[in-house]
Amino acid sequence: MISPSDRPTASASRILVTSALPYANGPIHFGHIAGAYLPADIYVRTQRARGRDVVYICGTDEHGVAITLTAQQAGVTPREHVDRWHKVICDIFQRFDIVFDHFSRTSTDLHAANSQEFFRQLLAAGYVKPLESEQLYCARDQRFLPDRFVIGTCYQCGHPEARGDECPRCGTWIEPLRLGDPACRLCGSPPERRATRHWYLMLDKLQPELEKYIGARGHWKRNVLQFVNGLLKEGLQPRPITRDLSWGIPVPLEEAAGKVIYVWFDAPIGYITATQEWAAGMGTPQRWKDYWQNPDTRLVHFIGKDNIPFHCLTFPAMLMGQAEAWKLADDVPANEFFNLEGGKFNTSTGWYIDLDDFFSKYSTDMIRWSIARNLPETADAEFTWHDFQAKVNGELADIYGNLAHRVLTFIHRYFAGRIPAAGATSAAHEDLAVLCRESPNTVAAAVDAYRLREAAVEMMNLARAGNRYFDAAAPWKSRKEDPDLCAATLNRCVRLLETLAVISAPFIPSSARRLWVMLGRQDELEAQLWDRAGVVPDPAGRELGRAEPLFSKISADQVAAEIAALGHRAAGRHDAGTGKDKTAMNDQDKTAVSGLPALRPEITIDDFLKCDFRLGRIVDAEKVPGSKRLLKFTVDIGLDTRTILAGIQEHYDPETLVGKTVVVIANLAPRRMMGYDSQGMVLAAEVDGTLTVLTPFSEGLRPGAQLS
Ligand code: MF3
Ligand code: ZN
Repeated sequence: MISPSDRPTASASRILVTSALPYANGPIHFGHIAGAYLPADIYVRTQRARGRDVVYICGTDEHGVAITLTAQQAGVTPREHVDRWHKVICDIFQRFDIVFDHFSRTSTDLHAANSQEFFRQLLAAGYVKPLESEQLYCARDQRFLPDRFVIGTCYQCGHPEARGDECPRCGTWIEPLRLGDPACRLCGSPPERRATRHWYLMLDKLQPELEKYIGARGHWKRNVLQFVNGLLKEGLQPRPITRDLSWGIPVPLEEAAGKVIYVWFDAPIGYITATQEWAAGMGTPQRWKDYWQNPDTRLVHFIGKDNIPFHCLTFPAMLMGQAEAWKLADDVPANEFFNLEGGKFNTSTGWYIDLDDFFSKYSTDMIRWSIARNLPETADAEFTWHDFQAKVNGELADIYGNLAHRVLTFIHRYFAGRIPAAGATSAAHEDLAVLCRESPNTVAAAVDAYRLREAAVEMMNLARAGNRYFDAAAPWKSRKEDPDLCAATLNRCVRLLETLAVISAPFIPSSARRLWVMLGRQDELEAQLWDRAGVVPDPAGRELGRAEPLFSKISADQVAAEIAALGHRAAGRHDAGTGKDKTAMNDQDKTAVSGLPALRPEITIDDFLKCDFRLGRIVDAEKVPGSKRLLKFTVDIGLDTRTILAGIQEHYDPETLVGKTVVVIANLAPRRMMGYDSQGMVLAAEVDGTLTVLTPFSEGLRPGAQLS
């Protein structure tokens, strides 16, 4: 058994990075990307540039009941189903520029053999045992119901639609027999309890060892430790790791004919199989052992928070129970959830972003950047179109792109495209040099601590500093007054841009590469050493490449059209199937092109009458502390005086709104924002990106009046 205290130092030079294996059961979306893939990709690119020996492993998770169910619904075999989604998912990763050293899948023969071997060893060591138990059985369908086939009320939070494996509301790891009012998901009838025999992972036996292991992981994120320690405190129970199913890896025992290994048992072993395949592909078939059986390696699992128990307890337990010593996870930077405009990404309700459409209009680096800046590292986060626009226009274009553009075009125009001489140094040059020298370390330190959002901000801060330096040095003036100083300024700006290209590459790889070429560098950006990136040798005399804009801006109209399109898609799904609706949506999509947001789908008068519009008087207005966007109003609507938040800070000085009569939708479910419950919405009109609050000019109106 491996000793739990073999914690390598933070500077481990060999690192194995994994991202949760996505189920080959549907497309992946921004939410997945933000949870387990983009952070890992940024981490890997940074560590590699720092000269670490990093291997980044992933693949599709291809077993399990959910896959069996969806394949059945789609009228294809599970094999056909996973083949299809494996390919789709590979393509999606490519579009996001998420680059793995090896991307495998769990339905291979090697993986089945590995999983069976793990099972056998645990059985031999007494950590896996057969137990008789009661399970839910559907008499109507004549089958034992896998966890996912059961639905009922969560015994932790009362959510009425908890699944037999997990509660989608509170994330509890469900024991299906404890669900309230259980029902069969296939036919809806209440299941009965029946005795059956399954093989269990004896987590209770491994609890002391797991406690030692987790005890030595005090540096883990608080959310992860809280969750894991909570489970340990409750006391771990044996968990069944076999299922009555035909799709999966057969349990390697004659007496278990017809049973397969539980998907969550085989999936994490997929990390190992994938590493073996990678090593074989490199022509060094034994090298996987350096990553999995050498305590000097750092093992890092990037996952979403719903995967915590499996990566922090079950998988380590499976590894501890083997005859050889295996690496146990050193870090599990689990992320919270990432939503879309206030709701969960959901393909079946239409609340998602169509990736073909998205990538036909926006670049990979735009979305990488907007997600990186909002990573759900400490709390749930979300993608909103307004924020996307703000990050692309306000940071990528106005800061990063602008600096590159002004420096490079200046040199092209006034120095014939050749980087001018460095000349004598000055205090301002020295300050800039210090900043350039420190920047890579600051970014790397944040990456080491898995604070990738902060790393992104630090990177952008260097570009910001470059703009400030350029503004202060005013080369357009010094060009005539002091040509040497002008040359020196541009020379320093080029060096800063070189540093910037290296440290921005993990976040926006293709833009960084384009910048590198524009800077006239002929060598590979990816081959640059991070640790040397902050001190750039004098580039004077080098010819620049052609200067082109790096990012195009996103217009307010475009944002409005995207939000409207999302609304349509979601609304369209509710009446899916009626031909009439489809035509209507097509027509509306056309109007979206004219610049105005497209019309939302038709509603009835009853739909309208559900909305309670009232006049309100703003009695108080102030900025929400910590928010650049929100204003907080106290509004008297006649019936009561309430708090309403609105995203119009950039358009109004709050004082000017006090005393105004406004239109409020008053029966909207309260929404929590920045620590306040917003009880309604104040109506405003958007014209070319500017919001104007509607205020009636009729006289004699008083708060509370109902609009119809
Ligand atoms: N497929 C699982 C999910 O999407 C994750 C599996 S991670 C692994 O939630 F470790 F098991 F591979
Ligand atoms: Zn049933």
